[in-house]
Amino acid sequence: MGGNRIVVYKEPGVVAVEDHDAPKLEVPAEVAEAMGMTRKAEHAVILRTVSTNICGSDQHMVRGRTDAPPGQTLGHEITGEVVEKGSDVQFLDVGDICSVPFNIACGRCRNCREGQTGICTNVNPGRAGSAYGYVDMGGWEGGQAEYVMVPFADFNLLKFPDRDQALEKILDLTMLSDIFPTGYHGAYTAGVTTGSTVYIAGAGPVGLAAAYSAHLLGAAVVIVGDLNADRLAQARSFGCETVDVSADATLEDQVGQILGTNEVDCAVDAVGFEATGHGAGAGEQPAAVLNSIMTLTRAGGSLGIPGLYVTGDPGAGDDDAKQGTLKVRLGLGWAKSHSLHTGQCPVLKYNRGLMMSILHDKAHIADAVNAEVLSLDDAPRGYQEFDAGAAKKYVLNPNGLIPAA
Ligand SMILES: NC(=O)c1ccc[n+]([C@@H]2O[C@H](COP(=O)([O-])OP(=O)(O)OC[C@H]3O[C@@H](n4cnc5c(N)ncnc54)[C@H](O)[C@@H]3O)[C@@H](O)[C@H]2O)c1
Ligand SMILES: [Zn+2]
Ligand SMILES: [Zn+2]
Repeated sequence: MGGNRIVVYKEPGVVAVEDHDAPKLEVPAEVAEAMGMTRKAEHAVILRTVSTNICGSDQHMVRGRTDAPPGQTLGHEITGEVVEKGSDVQFLDVGDICSVPFNIACGRCRNCREGQTGICTNVNPGRAGSAYGYVDMGGWEGGQAEYVMVPFADFNLLKFPDRDQALEKILDLTMLSDIFPTGYHGAYTAGVTTGSTVYIAGAGPVGLAAAYSAHLLGAAVVIVGDLNADRLAQARSFGCETVDVSADATLEDQVGQILGTNEVDCAVDAVGFEATGHGAGAGEQPAAVLNSIMTLTRAGGSLGIPGLYVTGDPGAGDDDAKQGTLKVRLGLGWAKSHSLHTGQCPVLKYNRGLMMSILHDKAHIADAVNAEVLSLDDAPRGYQEFDAGAAKKYVLNPNGLIPAA
């Protein structure tokens, strides 16, 4: 292994593929110092990347809506082959193909031991929770690269049972690192079950994965809302109803046309803080989706909120929103006894079961989100097209290991 080609954030709207040193079995210095860990990571592996996806969460950084500095490495949706392992790695071998949960978790802290791997307290000095290639997450290098280091590998990695089968189904399996579990978590925490009526805000990859998961969980009707016509068409391709939130008719009226009632049992926010307001010509309104899902959801219902909200937004339209303070109509949700489920998805809770659904042909998530493969060099184009609203999920192929379709 020589160097490592990796996708890096340069300035708002610009990413580039750069040459870095090859990753080592070492935790970032800032994490080791602050958490009292040894720098040398015998619990880690180096993966040769098989596939690594571009995510809406990356776009928040690339649009300049976070404090990500120029040079921030990118990529938290990773599937790879073990090429090197530390002496403490007991249950993985060179040659294993594994899915990497985007959450970095130690497997030892209170939250990890309770299954809350999205808020591990040992891997990020700044706050609970961490990820590869992300601002304010401890400085772990990103995986939109040829190689990546994964710490606490026995705990974090999900090994696929068969190498050939894994490569054959790689476009589905690549979604296990984030959006399939995240969409499923959104639907599951919204209480979706047999016969539910469901509203999913957002038809990006996470919203589509949530809608697909709602069908897996037995929903009677899944309604997806967005203002992007191509993405709404993508949702209809696997049996969802759709509503255009930029239309003159209100969201409740449009849902009423479909269901005969303007309430749903369950709702998911797969949009987050960069939400556009509803109606024609509405600009950005960070609380638009939160308020609309409280309006739509029945009293006693639950709201799954995988859409990302931030503690600081340099690009926000007003001073409150710059601090992450939003105009949320909490009184409405309180009056309806709503339960709200927020935060990073703890991928390890769901990835094994969803892998089984893929391997046994029950789930075809790559088709649902319209996966498209790009070379690592084409990552800048993938970022641009995704930002422009393409109804696609871009999967990078840094080592040419994804078989041609
Ligand atoms: N919680 C987690 O663990 C987790 C994991 C992955 C992604 N995320 C977050 O999930 C969100 C979605 O991710 P993505 O990759 O699908 O992003 P995306 O940007 O591709 O999709 C967001 C979609 O929301 C639409 N939209 C904007 N305002 C809307 C409104 N008022 N109503 C309905 N739709 C609206 C946009 O047109 C867009 O299609 C992002 O905030 C991302 O950071 C969270
Ligand atoms: Zn992601
Ligand atoms: Zn932990």
